[in-house]
Amino acid sequence: METIRTVEWMKQVSRQARAEGRLVGFVPTMGALHAGHASLVRAAQRDCSPVVVSIFVNPAQFGPGEDFAKYPRAREADTALVESLGAEFLFAPEAAEIYPPGFSSYVEVAELASRLEGRARPGHFRGVATVVLKLLEIVQPWRAYFGRKDAQQARIVLQLTRDFNLDAQIEVCPIVREPDGLALSSRNAYLSPEDRRAAVVLFRALAAARECVGRGEREARPLVAAMREVLAQEPRATPDYAEVVSADTFEPVAELRGECYALLAAAFGGTRLLDNMLIEEQDGNFRCKL
Ligand code: PAJ
Repeated sequence: METIRTVEWMKQVSRQARAEGRLVGFVPTMGALHAGHASLVRAAQRDCSPVVVSIFVNPAQFGPGEDFAKYPRAREADTALVESLGAEFLFAPEAAEIYPPGFSSYVEVAELASRLEGRARPGHFRGVATVVLKLLEIVQPWRAYFGRKDAQQARIVLQLTRDFNLDAQIEVCPIVREPDGLALSSRNAYLSPEDRRAAVVLFRALAAARECVGRGEREARPLVAAMREVLAQEPRATPDYAEVVSADTFEPVAELRGECYALLAAAFGGTRLLDNMLIEEQDGNFRCKL
């Protein structure tokens, strides 16, 4: 595996691979890699060669009071993991390489980025969309892989590629969870043992919504009520939102139809965690994917 630190060299390597007719796969990350990230790399390995993994803790997507400075960094373990997964290139630029002095253009994805995570974290999706556009331009992959764990982010990235006529296909991969159901996240490392145990309430809240669907419930309101009730039972959780939204617009829905998400965010001792469940309609039946 080769570690690449400059934009110019990354472009050159990727251009060369495309010229050879190869299908470049791309997995953007912020590092502190875990099995969720690994699942994206494996998915890329199945479809593409070469696979490029990027590690860049993107300052532009952190708000002023957020955890940019203390965001977990694990360069050696990350490099070893990416190498063991068989990726050919690790793109790990310094911040000044991505945001050189004088950098002044940002991408706003209007409607989709104004809700839920966007409301809770002003400017967050502007930073995500800007860096993802840059990374897709630099790597120019055939296909790029994102996790459904950050469902709103994945939807915004898809919008970005449509709006700017980018060639990259966007693949959204399932959520990887701990044995007790907690979705893997680099931020889980911040949790105290007590908060780690409490955080499984997110999964339990989604499972309660799944039970509603299983009983034949087709209205969103009882699902939302069930999720909020479960969250309220955990004193260590500070819930932010629990909603059922359209997977297309991320606006709340009254009734389940087509593809929807049950989405949750809650803080545990100052650490904000997200989770979601995809609810898919097929021939009038609904399937829940946790
Ligand atoms: P990061 O949080 O490192 O996540 C990188 C990718 O891994 C994202 O697509 C995310 O959805 C996915 N991922 C995280 N946890 C997962 C899990 N438990 N199961 C499956 N996939 C999971 O998301 C970002 O970085 C950044 O915003 C980025 C897109 C790299 C832009 O800076």
